[in-house]
Amino acid sequence: MSHSVFTPITLPNGATLPNRLAKAAMEENMAATGHLPGDDIFQLYKTWCAGGTGLLITGNVMVDHRAMTGPGGIALEEKTPLAPFKKWAEVASQNGTKIWMQINHPGRQVYAAMGGQVLSPSDIALNMGKHSKLFSKPSPMTELEIEALIQRFVTTASRAVEAGFHGVEIHAAHGYLLSQFLSPLTNKRNDSWGGSLENRARLLFEIVKAIKQVIPENIAVAVKLNSADFQRGGFDEKDALAVVKELGHLKVDLVELSGGSYESPAMQGNTADGQPLNREAYFLEFAKEIAKQAPMPIMTTGGIVRLAIAQKVLDEGVDMVGIGRALAFSPNLPQRWKMSSDTIAVLPQVKWQDKTLAALATMAITKRQLQRIGKGKAPKLNSSPLFSLIYDQLRLKKLTKIYRNKYKNE
Ligand SMILES: Cc1cc2nc3c(=O)[nH]c(=O)nc-3n(C[C@H](O)[C@H](O)[C@H](O)COP(=O)(O)O)c2cc1C
Repeated sequence: MSHSVFTPITLPNGATLPNRLAKAAMEENMAATGHLPGDDIFQLYKTWCAGGTGLLITGNVMVDHRAMTGPGGIALEEKTPLAPFKKWAEVASQNGTKIWMQINHPGRQVYAAMGGQVLSPSDIALNMGKHSKLFSKPSPMTELEIEALIQRFVTTASRAVEAGFHGVEIHAAHGYLLSQFLSPLTNKRNDSWGGSLENRARLLFEIVKAIKQVIPENIAVAVKLNSADFQRGGFDEKDALAVVKELGHLKVDLVELSGGSYESPAMQGNTADGQPLNREAYFLEFAKEIAKQAPMPIMTTGGIVRLAIAQKVLDEGVDMVGIGRALAFSPNLPQRWKMSSDTIAVLPQVKWQDKTLAALATMAITKRQLQRIGKGKAPKLNSSPLFSLIYDQLRLKKLTKIYRNKYKNE
Protein backbone atom coordinates (compact mmCIF):
# COMPACT_ATOMS: atom_id res chain seq x y z
CA MET A 1 0.00 0.00 0.00
CA SER A 2 1.61 3.26 -1.03
CA HIS A 3 1.33 6.59 0.71
CA SER A 4 -1.08 9.38 -0.15
CA VAL A 5 0.58 12.46 -1.64
CA PHE A 6 -0.60 14.28 1.48
CA THR A 7 1.29 12.11 3.98
CA PRO A 8 4.55 13.42 5.43
CA ILE A 9 7.90 11.89 4.50
CA THR A 10 11.01 11.67 6.66
CA LEU A 11 14.31 11.94 4.79
CA PRO A 12 17.57 10.18 5.66
CA ASN A 13 18.78 13.35 7.45
CA GLY A 14 15.85 13.03 9.88
CA ALA A 15 13.93 16.04 8.54
CA THR A 16 10.24 15.57 7.81
CA LEU A 17 8.51 17.17 4.84
CA PRO A 18 4.80 17.87 5.46
CA ASN A 19 3.67 16.10 2.28
CA ARG A 20 5.07 14.44 -0.84
CA LEU A 21 4.49 17.30 -3.24
CA ALA A 22 7.37 19.59 -4.18
CA LYS A 23 7.48 22.71 -6.25
CA ALA A 24 10.23 21.95 -8.73
CA ALA A 25 12.84 24.61 -9.43
CA MET A 26 11.71 27.25 -11.89
CA GLU A 27 14.16 30.01 -12.68
CA GLU A 28 12.26 33.22 -12.01
CA ASN A 29 14.50 35.84 -13.68
CA MET A 30 12.96 38.30 -11.25
CA ALA A 31 16.02 39.33 -9.22
CA ALA A 32 16.34 42.77 -7.73
CA THR A 33 19.55 44.75 -8.43
CA GLY A 34 22.72 42.85 -7.52
CA HIS A 35 21.31 39.37 -8.36
CA LEU A 36 19.37 39.42 -5.09
CA PRO A 37 15.91 38.14 -4.22
CA GLY A 38 13.50 41.08 -3.72
CA ASP A 39 9.84 41.86 -3.08
CA ASP A 40 8.48 40.08 -6.17
CA ILE A 41 10.27 36.88 -5.24
CA PHE A 42 9.05 37.13 -1.64
CA GLN A 43 5.44 37.58 -2.79
CA LEU A 44 5.74 34.63 -5.17
CA TYR A 45 7.09 32.28 -2.50
CA LYS A 46 4.54 33.51 0.07
CA THR A 47 1.82 32.54 -2.38
CA TRP A 48 3.29 29.07 -2.95
CA CYS A 49 3.76 28.63 0.78
CA ALA A 50 0.07 29.31 1.37
CA GLY A 51 -0.85 26.92 -1.45
CA GLY A 52 -0.12 23.66 0.33
CA THR A 53 3.05 22.35 -1.40
CA GLY A 54 5.19 20.74 1.32
CA LEU A 55 8.59 21.48 -0.21
CA LEU A 56 9.55 24.52 -2.26
CA ILE A 57 12.74 24.26 -4.30
CA THR A 58 13.92 27.68 -5.48
CA GLY A 59 14.66 28.47 -9.08
CA ASN A 60 18.33 27.85 -9.76
CA VAL A 61 20.65 30.18 -7.86
CA MET A 62 24.01 30.75 -9.52
CA VAL A 63 27.23 29.91 -7.74
CA ASP A 64 29.04 32.50 -9.90
CA HIS A 65 27.50 35.73 -11.19
CA ARG A 66 29.95 35.69 -14.11
CA ALA A 67 28.13 32.66 -15.54
CA MET A 68 24.37 33.08 -15.46
CA THR A 69 21.63 30.92 -17.00
CA GLY A 70 19.84 34.16 -17.81
CA PRO A 71 19.54 37.84 -16.91
CA GLY A 72 17.56 38.70 -13.79
CA GLY A 73 18.90 35.53 -12.18
CA ILE A 74 19.89 35.22 -8.53
CA ALA A 75 23.47 34.54 -7.41
CA LEU A 76 24.78 33.74 -3.94
CA GLU A 77 28.53 34.12 -3.54
CA GLU A 78 31.07 34.75 -0.79
CA LYS A 79 30.41 38.48 -0.50
CA THR A 80 26.69 38.59 -1.39
CA PRO A 81 24.59 40.33 1.31
CA LEU A 82 22.66 37.65 3.20
CA ALA A 83 19.68 39.64 4.52
CA PRO A 84 17.53 39.23 1.35
CA PHE A 85 18.17 35.46 1.40
CA LYS A 86 17.16 35.30 5.08
CA LYS A 87 13.92 37.04 4.18
CA TRP A 88 13.38 34.60 1.29
CA ALA A 89 13.86 31.57 3.55
CA GLU A 90 11.60 33.10 6.18
CA VAL A 91 8.64 33.90 3.91
CA ALA A 92 8.87 30.46 2.35
CA SER A 93 8.89 28.49 5.62
CA GLN A 94 5.43 29.39 6.90
CA ASN A 95 2.95 26.62 7.82
CA GLY A 96 5.73 24.04 8.14
CA THR A 97 6.73 24.35 4.49
CA LYS A 98 10.36 23.49 3.77
CA ILE A 99 12.47 25.57 1.44
CA TRP A 100 15.55 24.28 -0.39
CA MET A 101 17.83 26.31 -2.59
CA GLN A 102 18.74 24.86 -5.95
CA ILE A 103 22.33 25.74 -6.82
CA ASN A 104 23.72 25.70 -10.33
CA HIS A 105 26.42 26.62 -12.80
CA PRO A 106 25.29 26.76 -16.45
CA GLY A 107 28.60 25.72 -18.05
CA ARG A 108 28.16 26.05 -21.80
CA GLN A 109 24.44 26.86 -21.60
CA VAL A 110 25.09 30.63 -21.36
CA TYR A 111 23.43 32.80 -24.00
CA ALA A 112 26.02 34.54 -26.18
CA ALA A 113 24.12 37.81 -25.67
CA MET A 114 24.80 37.58 -21.92
CA GLY A 115 28.55 37.17 -22.24
CA GLY A 116 30.55 36.22 -19.18
CA GLN A 117 32.37 32.95 -18.67
CA VAL A 118 31.45 29.97 -20.81
CA LEU A 119 33.04 26.92 -19.23
CA SER A 120 32.58 23.24 -19.94
CA PRO A 121 34.53 20.00 -19.58
CA SER A 122 35.47 20.23 -23.29
CA ASP A 123 35.18 22.80 -26.07
CA ILE A 124 31.97 21.44 -27.58
CA ALA A 125 29.43 24.12 -28.46
CA LEU A 126 25.68 23.55 -28.30
CA ASN A 127 24.10 22.26 -31.47
CA MET A 128 20.71 23.93 -31.71
CA GLY A 129 20.43 23.75 -35.49
CA LYS A 130 19.71 27.16 -36.92
CA HIS A 131 19.62 28.61 -33.40
CA SER A 132 23.19 27.49 -32.53
CA LYS A 133 24.50 31.06 -32.72
CA LEU A 134 22.55 31.87 -29.56
CA PHE A 135 25.42 30.20 -27.68
CA SER A 136 29.22 30.54 -27.75
CA LYS A 137 31.87 27.86 -27.85
CA PRO A 138 32.98 27.00 -24.31
CA SER A 139 36.54 26.75 -22.95
CA PRO A 140 37.54 23.45 -21.37
CA MET A 141 37.99 23.90 -17.63
CA THR A 142 41.47 23.76 -16.14
CA GLU A 143 42.21 21.81 -12.98
CA LEU A 144 42.33 25.10 -11.05
CA GLU A 145 38.96 26.17 -12.40
CA ILE A 146 37.49 22.83 -11.36
CA GLU A 147 38.84 23.22 -7.82
CA ALA A 148 37.49 26.79 -7.64
CA LEU A 149 34.11 25.61 -8.87
CA ILE A 150 33.84 22.99 -6.11
CA GLN A 151 34.61 25.73 -3.62
CA ARG A 152 31.91 27.95 -5.12
CA PHE A 153 29.25 25.26 -4.71
CA VAL A 154 30.36 24.83 -1.08
CA THR A 155 30.23 28.59 -0.44
CA THR A 156 26.76 28.95 -1.93
CA ALA A 157 25.46 25.92 -0.03
CA SER A 158 26.86 26.97 3.32
CA ARG A 159 25.58 30.53 2.93
CA ALA A 160 22.13 29.18 2.00
CA VAL A 161 22.14 27.21 5.25
CA GLU A 162 23.27 30.31 7.16
CA ALA A 163 20.31 32.18 5.64
CA GLY A 164 17.86 29.59 6.95
CA PHE A 165 17.21 27.29 3.97
CA HIS A 166 16.43 23.72 5.05
CA GLY A 167 18.38 22.14 2.24
CA VAL A 168 20.19 22.55 -1.05
CA GLU A 169 19.62 20.82 -4.34
CA ILE A 170 22.62 20.50 -6.61
CA HIS A 171 21.52 20.88 -10.23
CA ALA A 172 23.18 18.10 -12.21
CA ALA A 173 20.47 17.81 -14.89
CA HIS A 174 19.20 19.62 -18.01
CA GLY A 175 22.55 20.03 -19.75
CA TYR A 176 24.07 22.48 -17.24
CA LEU A 177 27.70 22.20 -16.18
CA LEU A 178 27.51 19.12 -13.93
CA SER A 179 25.32 17.40 -16.50
CA GLN A 180 27.93 18.33 -19.17
CA PHE A 181 30.55 16.52 -17.09
CA LEU A 182 28.28 13.49 -16.76
CA SER A 183 27.55 13.18 -20.48
CA PRO A 184 30.02 11.47 -22.83
CA LEU A 185 28.74 13.77 -25.59
CA THR A 186 30.05 16.89 -23.88
CA ASN A 187 32.84 15.46 -21.74
CA LYS A 188 35.75 14.35 -23.93
CA ARG A 189 38.42 14.80 -21.28
CA ASN A 190 41.11 12.21 -20.80
CA ASP A 191 42.15 13.23 -17.30
CA SER A 192 40.56 12.09 -14.04
CA TRP A 193 37.41 14.20 -14.76
CA GLY A 194 36.48 12.44 -17.99
CA GLY A 195 36.30 9.05 -19.71
CA SER A 196 34.71 6.39 -17.48
CA LEU A 197 31.40 7.12 -15.75
CA GLU A 198 33.27 7.16 -12.46
CA ASN A 199 35.46 9.97 -13.81
CA ARG A 200 32.60 11.89 -15.44
CA ALA A 201 30.65 11.78 -12.18
CA ARG A 202 33.68 12.71 -10.08
CA LEU A 203 32.88 16.45 -10.07
CA LEU A 204 29.33 15.87 -8.82
CA PHE A 205 30.56 13.47 -6.15
CA GLU A 206 33.34 15.82 -5.02
CA ILE A 207 30.82 18.67 -4.71
CA VAL A 208 28.42 16.53 -2.67
CA LYS A 209 31.24 15.38 -0.37
CA ALA A 210 32.61 18.88 0.11
CA ILE A 211 29.17 20.31 0.90
CA LYS A 212 28.37 17.47 3.31
CA GLN A 213 31.59 18.23 5.16
CA VAL A 214 30.63 21.80 6.02
CA ILE A 215 26.88 21.76 6.62
CA PRO A 216 24.97 20.36 9.62
CA GLU A 217 23.62 16.81 9.34
CA ASN A 218 19.98 17.86 9.59
CA ILE A 219 20.24 19.96 6.41
CA ALA A 220 19.09 18.12 3.30
CA VAL A 221 21.41 17.63 0.34
CA ALA A 222 19.55 16.67 -2.83
CA VAL A 223 20.63 16.19 -6.43
CA LYS A 224 18.61 16.81 -9.58
CA LEU A 225 19.73 14.29 -12.15
CA ASN A 226 18.74 13.34 -15.67
CA SER A 227 17.26 9.88 -15.92
CA ALA A 228 18.75 10.18 -19.42
CA ASP A 229 19.90 12.95 -21.79
CA PHE A 230 17.64 11.62 -24.57
CA GLN A 231 20.42 12.04 -27.12
CA ARG A 232 22.13 9.15 -28.85
CA GLY A 233 25.39 8.34 -27.04
CA GLY A 234 24.52 10.54 -24.05
CA PHE A 235 24.16 9.86 -20.33
CA ASP A 236 21.61 7.07 -20.10
CA GLU A 237 19.40 5.17 -17.67
CA LYS A 238 22.14 2.72 -16.67
CA ASP A 239 24.47 5.63 -15.92
CA ALA A 240 21.74 7.32 -13.88
CA LEU A 241 21.22 4.21 -11.76
CA ALA A 242 24.95 3.86 -11.07
CA VAL A 243 25.21 7.54 -10.09
CA VAL A 244 22.17 7.27 -7.81
CA LYS A 245 23.71 4.27 -6.02
CA GLU A 246 26.94 6.14 -5.38
CA LEU A 247 25.01 9.22 -4.20
CA GLY A 248 23.45 6.86 -1.65
CA HIS A 249 26.92 6.04 -0.31
CA LEU A 250 27.48 9.77 -0.01
CA LYS A 251 24.29 10.07 2.07
CA VAL A 252 22.32 12.23 -0.33
CA ASP A 253 18.78 12.75 1.02
CA LEU A 254 16.78 12.86 -2.22
CA VAL A 255 17.37 12.48 -5.94
CA GLU A 256 15.01 14.30 -8.28
CA LEU A 257 14.84 12.65 -11.69
CA SER A 258 14.20 14.72 -14.77
CA GLY A 259 15.72 14.54 -18.25
CA GLY A 260 17.00 16.39 -21.29
CA SER A 261 18.90 19.59 -22.02
CA TYR A 262 18.55 22.70 -24.19
CA GLU A 263 19.40 20.45 -27.18
CA SER A 264 16.80 17.85 -26.25
CA PRO A 265 14.07 19.43 -24.08
CA ALA A 266 12.73 16.18 -22.58
CA MET A 267 11.89 18.06 -19.37
CA GLN A 268 9.08 19.66 -21.38
CA GLY A 269 8.08 16.30 -22.82
CA ASN A 270 10.01 16.54 -26.16
CA THR A 271 13.03 14.32 -26.81
CA ALA A 272 15.61 14.80 -29.58
CA ASP A 273 16.20 11.05 -30.02
CA GLY A 274 12.49 10.32 -30.49
CA GLN A 275 12.26 8.15 -27.36
CA PRO A 276 8.63 8.26 -26.25
CA LEU A 277 7.85 9.67 -22.80
CA ASN A 278 4.67 9.30 -20.79
CA ARG A 279 2.14 11.97 -21.69
CA GLU A 280 1.86 12.79 -18.00
CA ALA A 281 4.61 12.03 -15.44
CA TYR A 282 7.19 12.05 -18.26
CA PHE A 283 9.96 10.15 -16.44
CA LEU A 284 7.89 7.73 -14.38
CA GLU A 285 9.06 4.60 -16.25
CA PHE A 286 12.70 5.49 -15.51
CA ALA A 287 12.05 6.73 -11.98
CA LYS A 288 10.20 3.61 -10.86
CA GLU A 289 13.03 1.36 -12.05
CA ILE A 290 15.64 3.51 -10.34
CA ALA A 291 13.52 3.82 -7.16
CA LYS A 292 13.55 0.00 -6.81
CA GLN A 293 17.30 0.07 -6.23
CA ALA A 294 17.86 3.56 -4.87
CA PRO A 295 19.12 3.85 -1.31
CA MET A 296 17.41 7.25 -0.81
CA PRO A 297 13.94 8.66 -1.64
CA ILE A 298 13.37 9.41 -5.31
CA MET A 299 11.28 12.22 -6.75
CA THR A 300 10.26 12.61 -10.35
CA THR A 301 9.25 15.83 -12.02
CA GLY A 302 7.62 16.52 -15.36
CA GLY A 303 4.11 16.67 -16.74
CA ILE A 304 2.02 16.42 -13.57
CA VAL A 305 -1.31 18.26 -13.69
CA ARG A 306 -3.71 15.80 -12.03
CA LEU A 307 -3.90 14.33 -8.55
CA ALA A 308 -4.62 10.86 -9.94
CA ILE A 309 -1.28 10.89 -11.78
CA ALA A 310 0.61 12.33 -8.80
CA GLN A 311 -0.83 9.48 -6.74
CA LYS A 312 0.10 6.98 -9.47
CA VAL A 313 3.73 8.11 -9.20
CA LEU A 314 3.69 7.12 -5.52
CA ASP A 315 1.77 3.91 -6.21
CA GLU A 316 4.54 2.90 -8.62
CA GLY A 317 7.09 3.13 -5.80
CA VAL A 318 8.49 6.63 -6.32
CA ASP A 319 8.59 8.63 -3.07
CA MET A 320 7.88 12.23 -4.09
CA VAL A 321 6.28 14.19 -6.90
CA GLY A 322 7.85 17.37 -8.31
CA ILE A 323 5.60 19.90 -10.01
CA GLY A 324 6.76 22.88 -12.04
CA ARG A 325 4.50 24.60 -14.55
CA ALA A 326 1.21 23.53 -12.98
CA LEU A 327 2.19 25.50 -9.86
CA ALA A 328 2.88 28.59 -11.95
CA PHE A 329 -0.63 28.45 -13.36
CA SER A 330 -2.23 27.20 -10.17
CA PRO A 331 -0.04 28.10 -7.18
CA ASN A 332 -2.48 26.56 -4.67
CA LEU A 333 -2.94 23.32 -6.61
CA PRO A 334 -2.34 21.00 -3.59
CA GLN A 335 -5.06 22.80 -1.64
CA ARG A 336 -7.40 22.62 -4.61
CA TRP A 337 -6.69 18.89 -4.94
CA LYS A 338 -7.55 18.44 -1.27
CA MET A 339 -10.89 20.16 -1.79
CA SER A 340 -11.68 18.58 -5.11
CA SER A 341 -9.57 15.64 -6.20
CA ASP A 342 -10.45 15.92 -9.90
CA THR A 343 -9.06 19.45 -10.32
CA ILE A 344 -6.79 19.58 -13.38
CA ALA A 345 -4.21 22.34 -13.78
CA VAL A 346 -4.20 23.82 -17.28
CA LEU A 347 -0.77 23.83 -18.92
CA PRO A 348 0.01 25.78 -22.07
CA GLN A 349 0.42 23.58 -25.14
CA VAL A 350 2.83 25.16 -27.61
CA LYS A 351 2.72 22.91 -30.65
CA TRP A 352 5.02 24.86 -32.98
CA GLN A 353 7.16 23.10 -35.58
CA ASP A 354 10.31 24.84 -34.36
CA LYS A 355 11.05 22.96 -31.13
CA THR A 356 13.53 25.57 -29.87
CA LEU A 357 11.01 28.38 -30.22
CA ALA A 358 8.27 26.19 -28.74
CA ALA A 359 10.47 25.47 -25.70
CA LEU A 360 11.28 29.19 -25.31
CA ALA A 361 7.59 30.12 -25.60
CA THR A 362 6.64 27.54 -22.96
CA MET A 363 9.23 29.02 -20.62
CA ALA A 364 8.03 32.54 -21.47
CA ILE A 365 4.35 31.89 -20.72
CA THR A 366 5.27 30.19 -17.47
CA LYS A 367 7.57 33.02 -16.40
CA ARG A 368 4.85 35.55 -17.10
CA GLN A 369 2.71 33.80 -14.52
CA LEU A 370 5.54 33.92 -11.98
CA GLN A 371 5.90 37.66 -12.60
CA ARG A 372 2.14 38.17 -12.21
CA ILE A 373 2.03 36.25 -8.93
CA GLY A 374 5.07 38.25 -7.75
CA LYS A 375 3.04 41.42 -8.29
CA GLY A 376 0.10 40.01 -6.34
CA LYS A 377 -1.96 39.27 -9.49
CA ALA A 378 -3.70 36.05 -10.44
CA PRO A 379 -2.15 33.86 -13.17
CA LYS A 380 -3.60 34.38 -16.65
CA LEU A 381 -4.63 30.95 -17.91
CA ASN A 382 -5.17 31.95 -21.55
CA SER A 383 -1.86 33.77 -22.15
CA SER A 384 -0.82 33.73 -25.80
CA PRO A 385 2.46 31.87 -26.51
CA LEU A 386 3.47 34.30 -29.26
CA PHE A 387 2.76 37.42 -27.22
CA SER A 388 4.48 35.89 -24.17
CA LEU A 389 7.55 34.98 -26.21
CA ILE A 390 7.88 38.48 -27.68
CA TYR A 391 7.25 40.11 -24.31
CA ASP A 392 9.81 37.82 -22.66
CA GLN A 393 12.45 38.42 -25.34
CA LEU A 394 12.09 42.21 -25.00
CA ARG A 395 12.24 41.97 -21.23
CA LEU A 396 15.30 39.70 -21.32
CA LYS A 397 17.01 41.99 -23.83
CA LYS A 398 16.65 44.92 -21.47
CA LEU A 399 17.88 42.88 -18.50
CA THR A 400 20.76 41.46 -20.55
CA LYS A 401 21.93 44.98 -21.41
CA ILE A 402 21.94 45.95 -17.74
CA TYR A 403 23.90 42.78 -16.89
CA ARG A 404 26.47 43.35 -19.64
CA ASN A 405 27.05 46.98 -18.69
CA LYS A 406 27.48 46.10 -15.06
CA TYR A 407 29.74 43.14 -15.82
CA LYS A 408 31.89 45.29 -18.17
CA ASN A 409 32.43 47.85 -15.40
CA GLU A 410 33.51 45.37 -12.74
C1 LIG B 1 10.01 28.74 -16.50
C2 LIG B 1 10.76 27.50 -16.13
C3 LIG B 1 11.96 27.62 -15.46
C4 LIG B 1 12.65 26.46 -15.07
N1 LIG B 1 13.80 26.62 -14.34
C5 LIG B 1 14.40 25.51 -13.82
C6 LIG B 1 15.48 25.63 -12.93
O1 LIG B 1 15.90 26.73 -12.55
N2 LIG B 1 16.03 24.48 -12.46
C7 LIG B 1 15.57 23.25 -12.81
O2 LIG B 1 16.08 22.24 -12.33
N3 LIG B 1 14.55 23.11 -13.65
C8 LIG B 1 13.93 24.21 -14.14
N4 LIG B 1 12.84 24.06 -14.94
C9 LIG B 1 12.32 22.69 -15.20
C10 LIG B 1 11.33 22.28 -14.12
O3 LIG B 1 11.89 22.16 -12.85
C11 LIG B 1 10.69 20.94 -14.47
O4 LIG B 1 11.70 19.95 -14.46
C12 LIG B 1 9.99 20.97 -15.83
O5 LIG B 1 9.26 22.18 -16.00
C13 LIG B 1 9.02 19.80 -15.95
O6 LIG B 1 8.08 19.81 -14.93
P1 LIG B 1 6.57 20.32 -15.17
O7 LIG B 1 6.02 19.56 -16.33
O8 LIG B 1 5.85 20.03 -13.88
O9 LIG B 1 6.67 21.78 -15.48
C14 LIG B 1 12.14 25.19 -15.37
C15 LIG B 1 10.94 25.09 -16.08
C16 LIG B 1 10.25 26.22 -16.45
C17 LIG B 1 8.95 26.06 -17.18
